[in-house]
Amino acid sequence: MKRLIPLLAAVLLAACSHPVAPPQPRAELASPDGALRMEFSLDEAGTPFYSLSRQGTAVLLPSRLGFALRGTVKAEQLAEDNAGRIIKSDAVPGIAFDCGFELAGTDTDAFDEVWEPVWGEESRIRNHYNELLVHLRQPDSGRLLDIRFRLFDDGLGFRYEFPGGQSLVHFVIQEELTEFAMADDCTAWWIPGDYDTQEYEYNRTLLSEVAEHFQDKMRGNSSQTPFSTSGVQTSLQMKTPDGLYVNIHEAALVDYPCMHLLVDGEKHSLRAWLTPDAEGWKGNLTAPCKTPWRTVQVAVSATDQLASRLVLNLNEPCALEDVSWIHPVKYMGVWWEMIAGAGSWAYTDAVGIHLDEFDYTAATPNGRHSANNARVRTYIDFAAEHGFDALLIEGWNIGWEEWANCNKDYVFDFQTPYPDFDIDALNAYAHKKGIRLVMHHETSSSIRNYERHLEAAYSLMNRYGYDAVKSGYVGDILPQGLHHYSQWMINHYQYCITEAARHHIMVNAHEAVRPTGLCRTYPNLIGNESAMGTEYQAFGGITPGHTAILPFTRLNGGPMDYTPGIFEQNLKDWCGNDSYVNSTIGGQLGLYVTMYSPLQMAADTPAHYSRFMDAFQFIKDVAVDWSESRYLYAEPMEYIVAARKAKGTGQWFCGGVTDGQARTFEIRLDFLEPGSYEATIYADAPDAHFKTNPQAYAITKQNVTPDSVIPVTMAPGGGFGISFRKL
Ligand code: NOJ
Ligand code: CA
Repeated sequence: MKRLIPLLAAVLLAACSHPVAPPQPRAELASPDGALRMEFSLDEAGTPFYSLSRQGTAVLLPSRLGFALRGTVKAEQLAEDNAGRIIKSDAVPGIAFDCGFELAGTDTDAFDEVWEPVWGEESRIRNHYNELLVHLRQPDSGRLLDIRFRLFDDGLGFRYEFPGGQSLVHFVIQEELTEFAMADDCTAWWIPGDYDTQEYEYNRTLLSEVAEHFQDKMRGNSSQTPFSTSGVQTSLQMKTPDGLYVNIHEAALVDYPCMHLLVDGEKHSLRAWLTPDAEGWKGNLTAPCKTPWRTVQVAVSATDQLASRLVLNLNEPCALEDVSWIHPVKYMGVWWEMIAGAGSWAYTDAVGIHLDEFDYTAATPNGRHSANNARVRTYIDFAAEHGFDALLIEGWNIGWEEWANCNKDYVFDFQTPYPDFDIDALNAYAHKKGIRLVMHHETSSSIRNYERHLEAAYSLMNRYGYDAVKSGYVGDILPQGLHHYSQWMINHYQYCITEAARHHIMVNAHEAVRPTGLCRTYPNLIGNESAMGTEYQAFGGITPGHTAILPFTRLNGGPMDYTPGIFEQNLKDWCGNDSYVNSTIGGQLGLYVTMYSPLQMAADTPAHYSRFMDAFQFIKDVAVDWSESRYLYAEPMEYIVAARKAKGTGQWFCGGVTDGQARTFEIRLDFLEPGSYEATIYADAPDAHFKTNPQAYAITKQNVTPDSVIPVTMAPGGGFGISFRKL
């Protein structure tokens, strides 16, 4: 009987009515420069709202805040139950935690600091905001909720905080109800709200067209997992009819499910849509705790959006005491030949393998195994000769015969090399030549198996001198029913990062959740894929323009291991692959500047680079860590031109990429310090075209000063790179 009381309260709370009267303002906040203002309000039903404007023009209309909770158990009831477990019963309806609130108080604060990232687009980042902390109380339930708002010159961040010492202790989220009510119908660049992959090409439509576009174009194009038919992923880049660039994402995603957005096209409004767990619930929390930040960046130009560091600023400072072992990496890989189909990860073609029983030394090799001693040595020689730091080798370890889509739990042990890969000798050979080997851990999404072997796998890396790992999460998650972006998986990725830090290992995780700026706190997270990368050039090709949207969206939370540098576009003539690399050599060079990452790959093979050594020189020269970055021209999914100054040497580089259209830009060199420079310009040749003439480029040299202007033309699907040498 006692248990019925909270249940009844829950039913009552869920029935809160929502009045038509507009919410009443209770608190205001302005950005440090005064251009952005936000308002916090409550309506008559006690529902919290926030709104955002820029120079008096609405960006977000009053937008609802709060949650529907599920299976909430009061602390005193937990004690009574004496079981210490949350009661998960479908009989408990959603408990409204988005109304019935009263304002218990507000606090304000201001903050201004400059911090220095371990690696990044610049060596110093300003973190400057005004803060409003709203304390809410639900008198009927005695529950408390705080909402912390931070308003920067480049946007808003806010998060929910559940204070300790209240009646809400262990609770489950049924749905987060955070709304982003755009003041107008906006152009949006979006990918569908899949729970398991971000590997999509982007759509550009109005918000009001998303649902229709979904029905027409996206159906049947998703992975096997369910998702809403009008959900989109963040970071979502939008442009208002007034030409403001508005971007919605999240920062510091820790111990919480990843947030997608449900689109209400009619109202051009978006609502949080969390990734469910295997039972459909959306977050198991214990107060005191907090959600990730919800972010709304506002920029007057596309170049300002690219320069925004709001997502990084909302993350906690570096949690690692010693970062001396973390460093940027320029690497090559025994990789593209497998992706393109010229080689294989697996050593044999056997099936029905039980890893603990199969005798690889007695098995018949398939003759296509790329990660063999002789081949790896040729890559080490080439990478060392051309000044690279590292070499990735995939397919070095047993288990690849049945790695994907077999639902095998014990698919890899992450420790035993194939018979033709001498891990000891190859590491010794590489180290002698100044090259580190990059470890590869494809988990095939068998998470329990990976965690079971993680300590031994990282220890093996320490033993042989590997200091970076590329991990991968291809296929459905095991345990079954969980999604790549569920809270449980978010905690797994986090566990790998912190365990790796303990072993002084840098992590580059593919197919993991898209980043949310956690690299500020854990700078050993030097890369993620989490989007459609170069591999898709071998899986059917990528539309030009894709690389001009990623810096607005996917890179908003952290760097991408995009793996650029493909010089041989014709895969058919090379290895019979029907796909085609939709880019020019000039376009591939531009990516090393436009697509920021401290981890940059030269993804093509030594044989292909050997035919274009003069263009390859740009990849050899270009830096991977920067003290300054300038975005000169940009428009989402159309073009990006950037200039960056290398950390340490002070050398400037410039680069650009374009979509399927040819474009000419005047590059004003006023970013250079006073003096004379030799500019080496690696441009598309006049007759270059990504489809018909991708390898046509022209390399010219010219003496310049900060007053000079260099006009550069990019071919359709092309781009350029420029290096500057001080004279
Ligand atoms: C997908 C990754 O993105 C790719 O880089 C890797 O080679 C394969 N999985 C195999 O792990
Ligand atoms: Ca991938």
